[in-house]
Amino acid sequence: MLIGLGVTGGISAYKAVEVARGLQKRGHEVTAIMTAAATRFVGPVTFEAITRRPVVVDQFAPGANADIEHIALASSIDLLLVAPATANILAKMAHGIADDVLSTLYTATRAPVLVAPAMNTHMFSHPAVRANLDTLAARGVKFVEPGEGYLACGWIGKGRLAEPDEIVAAVERMLRPEGPLCGARIVVTAGPTYEDFDPVRYIGNRSSGRMGFAIAAEAARRGAAVTLIAGPTTVAVPGGLDEVIHVRSAQEMHRAVMERAANADIVVMAAAVADYTPIEPAAQKMAKTSDTLTLVLTRTPDILGDLGEARVTAGRGPLLVGFAAETSDVVARGRDKLRRKHVDMIVANDVSRSDAGFDVATNLVTILTAEGQEALPLQSKDAVAANILTRVEHLMARQAPVAH
Ligand code: PMT
Repeated sequence: MLIGLGVTGGISAYKAVEVARGLQKRGHEVTAIMTAAATRFVGPVTFEAITRRPVVVDQFAPGANADIEHIALASSIDLLLVAPATANILAKMAHGIADDVLSTLYTATRAPVLVAPAMNTHMFSHPAVRANLDTLAARGVKFVEPGEGYLACGWIGKGRLAEPDEIVAAVERMLRPEGPLCGARIVVTAGPTYEDFDPVRYIGNRSSGRMGFAIAAEAARRGAAVTLIAGPTTVAVPGGLDEVIHVRSAQEMHRAVMERAANADIVVMAAAVADYTPIEPAAQKMAKTSDTLTLVLTRTPDILGDLGEARVTAGRGPLLVGFAAETSDVVARGRDKLRRKHVDMIVANDVSRSDAGFDVATNLVTILTAEGQEALPLQSKDAVAANILTRVEHLMARQAPVAH
């Protein structure tokens, strides 16, 4: 798809470069259209080098009118994205002022329009800006809400440009034809759990969260409303998700999943949940008093098992996908978990390999369902996530349609 990326004059214009790259990584072509003010923050050459296309800045540049450039662009783009969008461009768009290439392009195109505003927090809440946003929303323009935090002007509040991957995910949602996951509510768990045995020490595992994050990001791209429940990890959480809940222990993850599963259509348990936790964590840091240390552990709640059990008891509930992290008899053990935990799909991975499982970018999985099994080749976790969700879509197609 060809995306027209309108860049206006805000301090976050440099982030539009990341947005362009993110769109390209998703297979889109990008043409940048910059306002004169935007060029004071980032040079057109940067966008030209990234997009490998001429950057449109001046409506009256020699050659630009040979094919009435803004009209040609208006009819060839599949989506117009304005990121960052200043209060000025919002006002022009709302009132049909067409006095530069970008504002003219907006009035000329019939492609869907997505806007990522970025400005000072008081500007963003000003009645004039709110009215312009309302006008544009009523006209079908979609928005990626700005984030909250420290703004370049030194103020704290709402107005910071949304993260580039959040903007890319929003573009994907707008472009993707409605698939089975569009509008579905999905809960994904990721990462390890930490089981504290004193105030500074814990039992954990090597899960980075990457596998679960890839599933959450892919589900968001397919239009699902995603709740991510993540254990402690240092890998950045993907953007474009509806809700992100950070937990520490298996008990906390159990509570968070159970609370949200009631309203979910699908739950994917990619987290490496601890099976045991110290029976009584010490209140103070444990002193080194002997050569050996014995910790007494007790079983944690089996989150996936409880979800499966609850579904059997109630006769209804979300579609359940679990993982099986194995070092031997991977498929047989995975199939045992499929049956024992009453789930629809188990993704069995051989975590003894150095290129699969914990804390690497690739994975080697076999997908197990009641109908059969499918061994996938070694591939990136993003590709594994896409494969899992395509098979989830097939399972959904065989079940009752998602009710909202
Ligand atoms: O995070 P990464 O670095 O990307 O690594 C990915 C991964 C290896 C962690 C992932 O691919 C994976 O295998 N996740 C599941 C790890 C695991 O706990 O497997 P298990 O075989 O012990 O558990 C079976 C299933 O029950 C899993 O879906 C697990 O989330 C769930 N479980 C386990 C224990 C427990 N107390 N409650 C659970 O719900």
